[in-house]
Amino acid sequence: MRTQVGIIGAGPAGLLLARLLANAGIDSVVVENRSREYVEARIRAGVLEQQTVDLLTEAGVGDRLQRQGLRHDGIYLQWPGERHRIDFPALCDRSVWVYGQTEVVKDLVNARLADGPLFFDISDTAVVDVETDRPKVTFTDADGVARVLECDVVAGCDGFHGVSRQAIPEALRTTFERVYPFAWLGILADVEPSTDELIYAWHPDGFALHSMRSPTVSRLYVQVDPSEKVEDWSDDRVWDALATRMALPGWTLRSGPVTEKSITPMRSFVSGPMRHGRLFLAGDAAHIVPPTGAKGLNLAVADVKVLAEAITAFAKEQRTDLLDAYSDTATRRVWRATHFSWWMTSMLHRSPGSDPFDDQLQLSQLRYVSTSERAAASLAENYTGLPYTT
Ligand code: APR
Ligand code: PHB
Repeated sequence: MRTQVGIIGAGPAGLLLARLLANAGIDSVVVENRSREYVEARIRAGVLEQQTVDLLTEAGVGDRLQRQGLRHDGIYLQWPGERHRIDFPALCDRSVWVYGQTEVVKDLVNARLADGPLFFDISDTAVVDVETDRPKVTFTDADGVARVLECDVVAGCDGFHGVSRQAIPEALRTTFERVYPFAWLGILADVEPSTDELIYAWHPDGFALHSMRSPTVSRLYVQVDPSEKVEDWSDDRVWDALATRMALPGWTLRSGPVTEKSITPMRSFVSGPMRHGRLFLAGDAAHIVPPTGAKGLNLAVADVKVLAEAITAFAKEQRTDLLDAYSDTATRRVWRATHFSWWMTSMLHRSPGSDPFDDQLQLSQLRYVSTSERAAASLAENYTGLPYTT
């Protein structure tokens, strides 16, 4: 098989790249080692920056998002006894949209299947010859047939556990990592959200977050120890922890049937460069952020926007300048999001050995961002998404 761009991974990064390239008249083949059902059911985050929404809409995959997405003009920051609103449009003239990543992926898979080839259920993915101008993706398809996909460019969009990053020689790679001493236990529940906008709550027992997916589905998280097992958290225990950590006089948390429950470890991870020869990494393949800043999906989208433009200039005009600049351009944004996500995480979680001094520093920072317009504006512009630099 021969294509212009071989795309490994049918997550948001790979699927959106395929769409943007198809819109520019560039052929690609997407290969994914999981099934369509698995990819479309995976529960992930749900906050889209305004420019993510704009990009999806311009790419022709925003119809359902426009109809079902919920525009949020702020978030609440809370600590015992106080809840403060950060007003995004007033502070930075932008908003965010609540629309599950699961739904983004379904929309993109539908678009992809109309645009071109997407192989699900593949195995033995490998990337070879990336230092030549004929890089290849080799894999075994769902019928057990060994395939070689010859490309001009390969995009490694295969997430944190993928193989693409490893195709860059270790000696050329630098990785930066922070593993946090806590995790998030998340639930999806069939209950009307108890809030109009997301609540990020600091509490002596640990962080809690009230998010949502729709007017009838709530998404909530509590900070837990990374060693804890989901089996040890009965639905009642989760609801009790949420009610305690988000308690506010005059406000009650509605509970309802829990439809999903899982524990996610928290880490920051950045690997560079994001390019080796004709192989380009995008999304979680190159970086992970803790979910507190709601940046993971948006960062993958930002990488892909820059990469699609660079590949298009190369495919149409044989220009290599944007491909050469890709890693540096993307990495600058990655570090901004890495800092913001680390900062939100550090401000809102209780670390195992934290003492009253640490607590007071966190509370002081929370009060400051909630009451200083300048500090709040910094949070708001990072949360809603800094403008693309290209
Ligand atoms: N061969 C083919 N596909 C692979 C391989 C492989 N060896 N390894 C992984 N994949 C697939 C995964 O099954 C997954 O569908 O690559 C895809 C990567 O998708 P994501 O993990 O969703 O990563 P990305 O597209 O970069 O999206 C980033 O997803 O993890 C969240 O928080 C993150 O919101 C962010 C977003
Ligand atoms: C979610 O809705 O899953 C969500 C929202 C905000 C975050 C993280 C996750 O910061």
